[in-house]
Amino acid sequence: MLRPSNALAALVLFGVLAAPALAGGSGEKAPQFTEDFLNDAEVLAMGQEIWADQCQFCHGKNAYPGKAPKLKPRKYTPEFVYKRVTKGFKGMPAWEDVYSDEERMSVAAWVMNKDFSN
Ligand code: HEC
Repeated sequence: MLRPSNALAALVLFGVLAAPALAGGSGEKAPQFTEDFLNDAEVLAMGQEIWADQCQFCHGKNAYPGKAPKLKPRKYTPEFVYKRVTKGFKGMPAWEDVYSDEERMSVAAWVMNKDFSN
């Protein structure tokens, strides 16, 4: 028979062992856009570079008209931009297999930055 204290210990132990497994791995990991991350100069430099290399020719002001909508960051959250970049949507390509989580988060941070322009 399991004594109540043992059962409790087992539950606590299960929590400790299971929590990291649930948080990591292949599942959906919710990105954490802290103020620090969104304002980090290195993050923004990386995001700006990705934007210039991979996004601007579709979304930028010199893109072929009608190729992709001009982005309206004031209507977005970083999580929304991250999701579109990660999963794609209709004509918007998915970058999940191209860029790491941090790279996709950095381009989202750049799009949301006050210095961003299409
Ligand atoms: C091949 C052209 C193309 C490239 C490259 C591209 N996009 Fe897109 N993107 C689109 C199109 C087309 C849409 C509109 C999809 C729809 O809603 O029908 C879109 C939609 C979006 C949206 C949602 C806009 C809204 O208002 O709903 C975001 C945010 C976005 N793209 C960001 C990016 C970022 C960041 C990159 C670079 C990593 C990128 N895109 C690269 C074509 C592109």
